[in-house]
Amino acid sequence: MKVIEDPKEMQIFSDEARHQNYKIGFVPTMGYLHQGHISLLDAARKETDQVVLSIFVNPTQFSPGEDLSVYPRDLPKDMDIAKKAGVNVVFTPDDNNIYGPNYQTNINLKQLPNHLCGIHRPIHFQGVATVVTKLFNIVKPHFAYFGEKDYQQLAVIRQMTQDLNFDINIVGCPIVREKDGLAMSSRNVYLSKTQRQSALSLSKVLKDTQKKVFDGITDVNKLVSDAKNYIESQPEAQVEYINICDKDTLDDISIINKDSLMALAVKIGRTRLIDNTILNTSSQ
Ligand code: PAJ
Repeated sequence: MKVIEDPKEMQIFSDEARHQNYKIGFVPTMGYLHQGHISLLDAARKETDQVVLSIFVNPTQFSPGEDLSVYPRDLPKDMDIAKKAGVNVVFTPDDNNIYGPNYQTNINLKQLPNHLCGIHRPIHFQGVATVVTKLFNIVKPHFAYFGEKDYQQLAVIRQMTQDLNFDINIVGCPIVREKDGLAMSSRNVYLSKTQRQSALSLSKVLKDTQKKVFDGITDVNKLVSDAKNYIESQPEAQVEYINICDKDTLDDISIINKDSLMALAVKIGRTRLIDNTILNTSSQ
């Protein structure tokens, strides 16, 4: 497994791989790898010849006061996981070789960021879209893999790929969960024992709401307020948002009449967790 820090060197590697007709599969991450990340690497390994994993905690997607300075990191362990997952190249740039002192360019989307997490993290998707654009230009992949765990992020990346004519297949991969339903996240490490118990309320309300929709309840306000009440009955849990919306535009809806997205962000103590599911209107 090769480790590359320099963007230019990464580009040269990818040019050579492309020259040899290898398909490049790319998994961008911020490290502290878990089974969710590994599922993306597994998908990449199955479909492509050269798997590139990037590990870069991107400062521009964190607002002041968020957890950038304490974001969990463990590079030696990540390297071990990457090796076992059959990664060919780990790309580990630092802040300076991604954003030089004279950096000026950002990528902004007009509509998708004005929903869900984007309302509460105003610069987040600009930071994500910008860094992923840069990583695409550096790694030059044929396929890039993203988790449905970050549903809005995946929607932003798909839209941006179409808008900017990136010749890259964006592959969405299902949410990987702990046995008890908690969606895997690098941030779960922040949770105390009691907080982890409270965190189970996120996946529970998604499941319960799906059941209610199967039972014919279609009033979004009612579904959302029941979910909010349940989550906030748990110790240290504060809902940031719970939305049921159109799964493509992310626009709000008031009545469920086709498959839609239920997405939520909850603070458990100081840890912000997100989760989502597609609410199916029929079980077939
Ligand atoms: P990070 O949070 O490290 O996640 C990297 C990728 O792993 C994302 O595509 C995310 O959706 C996916 N992922 C995380 N948890 C998952 C889970 N439980 N199941 C399935 N996939 C999961 O997302 C980012 O980093 C950054 O915003 C990045 C795209 C790298 C840009 O900086």
